[in-house]
Amino acid sequence: MYTQEMLDSIRKVEATRQERLGHEPRRMTESEKNELLYKYHPDYRQDNFSVLKIGPNKGDKVPDELADLLQGNSRIKDEEIDLSKVDYDVDVLVIGGGGAGASAAIEAHEGGANVMIVTKLRIGDANTMMAEGGIQAADKENDSPAIHYLDALGGGHYANKPELLYKLVTEAPSAIKWLNDLGVMFDKAPDGTMITTHGGGTSRKRMHAAKDYSGAEIMRVLRDEVINRGIPVIDFTSAVELILDDEGKAAGAVLMNMETKEYMVARAKTVIIATGGAGRLHYQGFPTSNHYGATADGLILGYRAGAKLLYADTLQYHPTGAAYPEQIFGALVTEKVRSLGAMLVNVNGEAFMHPLETRDVSAASIIRECDDRKKGVSTPSGSGVWLDTPMIEIIHGEGTIEKRIPGMLRMYSKYGIDIRKVPILVYPTLHYQNGGLEINAECLTTVENLYAAGEVAGGIHGRNRLMGNSLLDVIVFGRNAGKNAAKRCKEVKLGRLTLDHVSRFSKEMEAAGIKSSCISPKLLPIYTRRHDK
Ligand code: FUM
Repeated sequence: MYTQEMLDSIRKVEATRQERLGHEPRRMTESEKNELLYKYHPDYRQDNFSVLKIGPNKGDKVPDELADLLQGNSRIKDEEIDLSKVDYDVDVLVIGGGGAGASAAIEAHEGGANVMIVTKLRIGDANTMMAEGGIQAADKENDSPAIHYLDALGGGHYANKPELLYKLVTEAPSAIKWLNDLGVMFDKAPDGTMITTHGGGTSRKRMHAAKDYSGAEIMRVLRDEVINRGIPVIDFTSAVELILDDEGKAAGAVLMNMETKEYMVARAKTVIIATGGAGRLHYQGFPTSNHYGATADGLILGYRAGAKLLYADTLQYHPTGAAYPEQIFGALVTEKVRSLGAMLVNVNGEAFMHPLETRDVSAASIIRECDDRKKGVSTPSGSGVWLDTPMIEIIHGEGTIEKRIPGMLRMYSKYGIDIRKVPILVYPTLHYQNGGLEINAECLTTVENLYAAGEVAGGIHGRNRLMGNSLLDVIVFGRNAGKNAAKRCKEVKLGRLTLDHVSRFSKEMEAAGIKSSCISPKLLPIYTRRHDK
């Protein structure tokens, strides 16, 4: 499967392997990291960002692709939506059917609310399902939420909102217990203790996993729980605008059937946005590890209704996306591969960084190695560096790869690559939206009765998230959003439903001289080639 040039380079990797074992490169200093980030990390390429001209974050810069959508035209601009004809009337409307949406719905149901999930694909078609490496929680004797807090704060460049990070780490052990009690099959030792590993930037082994399909296992259980409770799920139906009441409180959403394009009205006393991330916007032309529906919809819905964004200019490029073969270009190669000891090495078999630097630093270091130092290995779409997977079984013994990362073994074996015997080529892939809708510790956005949870929310991870803190935030904040929305809806008296904010936003665009041909939310990516149209 590998080209002759790749095979020649593999010989060099093999030649240095023995010497590299037990001799990891040192960690970078703070100033080395900063220099690397400013020069090579995509978040710092200023020419790929635009300044917003209107809305709650007027004056802030966001990626060009997101600016186009935030300042785009509503899908219902020229539509007559009859708000007096209500198709669904609920206490809590959850928009999004991933891990955060499902957790929120379960807790809202537990709190006695009449809750409904609406999702543009099917429940579980979400980034949660694609998460591999694990979920962090400080529940071992040598660890504590305080140490977890410090790790995440350092990784996030000290920009994490303290009250959100506090909630994340202090509620992590009970999140693991909740999932375990629901039936998630975590990796355990024969005596029943959870097996935990390191991730980039962690000072303790606190990554709990279900092999290398942790997200799929968690989503399996959450989906079952939603179904078993009889929570209604309206699938293949997207929210295209939020509805407010005449006091400006969130009061529901305009829904669109994805097949017939028919519009419907959902009225709700509280609304939870749990629409996930934005990888399918392919910022700066990067491939992505994200699921098909990750198109930033929740940011658009919230922004038009007046919700503020936080850190929308910061994205996570996972250091190890598959760079070869082409069929899996951009797919996630879990960080757990490095946790288990595989090193990153260049075309000459040289280890050029410590394998467990934080993600932004690791991604920048790989980009420097390939693009600047020209020490990457050529691939059809550019270049990549080796992730020396055979090291894993040399360190931990035969059978470790099959046992701990069977998904990786299978993904590559389809293309004739046995990762136990040969290394694999990787390059950064767009993986996660660090920023999003600003929330407080109750998951409330800056719009009354509008909650947000999961990847759509910003501030928890500061400007760079650590591995395993996303599955965690989906559970912790999903559950909190559900509980709080259910509690709140008991006090809500809805006023007259209105879409005035949508026309106001359109007028603001006109006044700012924005002429856009873009329609948002985007809902699904478009991959049609020009000559196919
Ligand atoms: O590398 C991974 O398995 C990804 C984990 C995460 O984004 O938390």
